[in-house]
Amino acid sequence: MRTIDWVDGAVEIIDQTALPARELWLRISTVDEMVDAIVRLAVRGAPALGVAGALGVALAARTYPDDPAVLASAVRRLETARPTAVNLARGVRLAMAALPSGADAVLAAALTMRDAEISASEAMAQRGADLVTELCGPAPRLLTHCNTGGLATVTGGTALGVVAELHRRTALAAVIASETRPLLQGARLTAWELGRLGIPYRVAVDAAGPFLMARGEVDAVILGADRVCANGDVVNKVGSYAHALGAQAAGIPFIVVAPESTVDESTATGADVEIEDRAAAEVLGFGDARVAPDGAAAVNPAFDVTPHHLVTAIVTDRRTLHPPSSPPTPSSI
Ligand code: MRU
Repeated sequence: MRTIDWVDGAVEIIDQTALPARELWLRISTVDEMVDAIVRLAVRGAPALGVAGALGVALAARTYPDDPAVLASAVRRLETARPTAVNLARGVRLAMAALPSGADAVLAAALTMRDAEISASEAMAQRGADLVTELCGPAPRLLTHCNTGGLATVTGGTALGVVAELHRRTALAAVIASETRPLLQGARLTAWELGRLGIPYRVAVDAAGPFLMARGEVDAVILGADRVCANGDVVNKVGSYAHALGAQAAGIPFIVVAPESTVDESTATGADVEIEDRAAAEVLGFGDARVAPDGAAAVNPAFDVTPHHLVTAIVTDRRTLHPPSSPPTPSSI
């Protein structure tokens, strides 16, 4: 199943806000609809955002062929719909580079990008599964955070693709999906994908992760990235850093799986990345129920930065990186 694709002149996506209760497919035929889908996380996950951005430009190029100013403004809205995952702006720019050759060329560039992400998922699954077995032996117990499966990547996945490949190889003992407050990508989406794959799993609250590691119940943490910086810092869903600290304290590997399209050599460190701040209401409630008292304020960073010295390995579709294991000195920050 492709969770985002171009079908008969429009973009079709599975609405990730409706899962797991309902499998709802959306047909997106305007830039405004695409921006809205990105902002409210109907489509989400770094590689899927890259494809959404590129296909959004394809829609814009077909809609405004003779109006460069309107086209430019539509493209700008797509590019800035969410700031943290490098894939979105990258996908938009990649598709825009084909504009001088016309709207069909823009669509062709977007579809090439879609296909590249599908191939990247396959390559990461193999490389990542080999690495996990090498580091953790034949029956690892893994903990993953947020959602990094086909929903986040078109099909396959990054970290969850590795989990699925280990399961296929009968080389996986157990997997814990960290629930991923506040929007529950782990409890809703990763659990849904693991269920469809027939992989047994348990959901844990985010704060349980480091304790489960300390108690010897996790052999490695494996998750994705929204941006891998030039120095190896990893920007990913909020909660990743706490899991990395837990992994370091427990002496277990912290493995990041992300395609080359998420590696951003032009951003020096995690401190240079704009971290998306989302609405207070996401934190002050749980699902649709308000839990905090009236008047409560909230702080809601959607991502955090795991410094490179806490990262054991970054598996991409082409290579396995081992970031420097010493913490940065004040002069190198
Ligand atoms: O806010 P989201 O759900 O878009 O955040 C997604 C993540 O943080 C994922 O871990 C990351 O994009 C990797 S997806 C393969």
